[in-house]
Amino acid sequence: MRCFLTVLALSLSLGCSRGQPTGRRGSDVPTVRIALVTDLKGYLEPCGCTSDPLGGIDRLAAQIRALRDGPAPVVFVIAGDTFFDTATIEPVRVDQAGRNAKTLAGILSGLDVAAVLPGPSDRAQPSDTLEALKAASDFPWLAMEGDAELLRVKVGSLRLAVVGVRPGADRDAVKPLAASADADSDLTMALVDGSRRDANRLGAIEGVDLVVQGGLDEDDPVAPREAGRAWLLHASRQGQGLTVVDVYQKKTGAPFVDRSDWSRAERARLLDSQLADLGQKISAWEKSGDVDAADLESQRARLAALRGERQALNGPAPSTDGNALYVTWIPLPKNAPKDSTVEALMRKHDKVVNDANRVAFANRKPPPLGPGDVAYVGSAACSGCHQPAYAWWSTTAHGHAYRTLQEQNKEYNLDCVGCHVTGYERPGGSTVTHNRDLALVNVGCESCHGPGAAHAENPEEVGILRDTPASTCVQCHNAQHSDLFDYESYKKTMIVPGHGLPPR
Ligand code: HEC
Ligand code: HEC
Ligand code: HEC
Ligand code: HEC
Repeated sequence: MRCFLTVLALSLSLGCSRGQPTGRRGSDVPTVRIALVTDLKGYLEPCGCTSDPLGGIDRLAAQIRALRDGPAPVVFVIAGDTFFDTATIEPVRVDQAGRNAKTLAGILSGLDVAAVLPGPSDRAQPSDTLEALKAASDFPWLAMEGDAELLRVKVGSLRLAVVGVRPGADRDAVKPLAASADADSDLTMALVDGSRRDANRLGAIEGVDLVVQGGLDEDDPVAPREAGRAWLLHASRQGQGLTVVDVYQKKTGAPFVDRSDWSRAERARLLDSQLADLGQKISAWEKSGDVDAADLESQRARLAALRGERQALNGPAPSTDGNALYVTWIPLPKNAPKDSTVEALMRKHDKVVNDANRVAFANRKPPPLGPGDVAYVGSAACSGCHQPAYAWWSTTAHGHAYRTLQEQNKEYNLDCVGCHVTGYERPGGSTVTHNRDLALVNVGCESCHGPGAAHAENPEEVGILRDTPASTCVQCHNAQHSDLFDYESYKKTMIVPGHGLPPR
């Protein structure tokens, strides 16, 4: 998440207002805008646990519509795992993941998607699941049979070729398609899912102008990078944002050159670090005096050349009368506008999943107690003897963690419940439906002090954990769900009169 902040700061400093890309210096209208999403992975929205959650298919929908309201024609393309985020889904999660994927396919169908290149997790699902999903999609799924598939799209005056490449495909199978695409298209875009190396190899194929990469092991969006003869793009994951490519076609048949401020800023950053590095080395060599004079001279010349290049980046982007690409990334923060129709579909989906899980898992019991295991009793059972602690806890975030989910119809959602209840799936603990008549909802005393039935029964004889090391907290406060977690500062807020300090 921290990296996102950098990207945000960068795009702001470059003057593209959040959520409203202004195009190249806000002036001329692009020939076409290509909106890209990669590695959506079935995410309808972020969980909401973190400090600056990004994403939400309702926000994505609003952004796509806003682009379409602009003067340039827009084409929307998706690559990488789109409906699922793992190849093998735990049996208990299959139903929920399937419903999720279906809701997503329905919502995307309302957004006029030109094509999707599904990733390996999508492709690994059982064929009946895939058939049902395809039936719920009004857009093509590329390269589901064969190594590669070519789709020609006319957008405004631009003839766009989209080549979907199956993960792990033979590059030789792609070449003829790319050549044929190149012959009668203005711009050829390859959609892939795989490693950086796979993408570079595709970018090296004659005729390919853009490579859109899914499956990149990077959280952040990627500024246009050279990959062979093409420009490589990755639009982040989990729907946290979208990449928009403004295509300016001035001369049919001429190559496209990347003119993005974003790439220039990345290049400037790289040059700054190289300059600092080389500058330091040169002064060390000068001091040591044991470096050959000619070598030193050539290093100084290199430094001067880098400086020149860096200086040039401070000026305005060189103008071009040729074909240009201008790439921006639009994050989808909490305050980004939402599409109300899509939001309503999501809320309906939450309710359907919640109701279905409540029924489907009605009999799901926690693992039985093994020898030496102690059962969970719930925080109310501690209140009689630890009244001040209980009174304090009831007012804290932990004390109403379940309500947080109930308010969103997510208390039976398998993606959420585990960290918002006590003793989840532990022997003698709770499950998605089984919480001893709500005794084990919320993050109770026993989430930190361990199961307490024996101690509550007989405190004189049986103790309970007093210390709660960081390892206890990070079972829930992990990077994905608690980005700002810091053990000492978080713990400090919990040591108060009545809980760790003498009662007032
Ligand atoms: C019947 C009364 C009673 C109940 C019920 C009870 N406790 Fe205690 N608890 C005690 C007593 C007595 C002590 C020891 C006195 C002391 O050191 O303050 C104690 C001590 C503790 C300590 C400190 C342990 C230590 O080693 O310093 C923790 C933590 C604690 N209890 C948690 C809980 C939790 C959690 C529950 C509910 C699951 C609970 N207690 C239920 C009476 C009770
Ligand atoms: C069983 C999961 C779980 C464990 C274990 C857990 N927490 Fe939490 N914690 C949560 C959840 C969930 C929330 C948010 C609840 C809400 O607001 O709905 C939270 C919230 C908090 C907050 C409030 C943060 C805020 O912004 O208001 C603090 C502080 C905190 N936890 C500290 C800790 C510490 C310290 C530990 C370990 C000693 C710990 N937690 C262990 C799940 C857990
Ligand atoms: C891995 C554990 C974990 C899972 C799974 C999880 N949460 Fe959380 N959630 C937390 C923790 C920890 C916090 C507190 C974060 C903090 O303040 O640092 C939290 C906080 C929240 C908050 C913020 C509460 C507030 O008032 O600030 C919301 C909302 C929330 N979670 C909803 C959800 C939803 C919805 C899901 C399922 C999609 C979910 N959580 C899944 C651990 C989890
Ligand atoms: C999120 C984790 C967490 C939860 C939930 C929690 N505690 Fe604690 N508890 C702590 C921590 C941390 C300490 C302080 C330990 C230390 O000083 O290192 C503590 C200390 C205590 C102590 C020892 C106090 C003393 O003065 O020695 C008692 C008793 C206790 N907790 C009872 C409870 C009870 C009862 C509940 C529920 C009503 C509860 N705690 C909920 C983390 C938690």
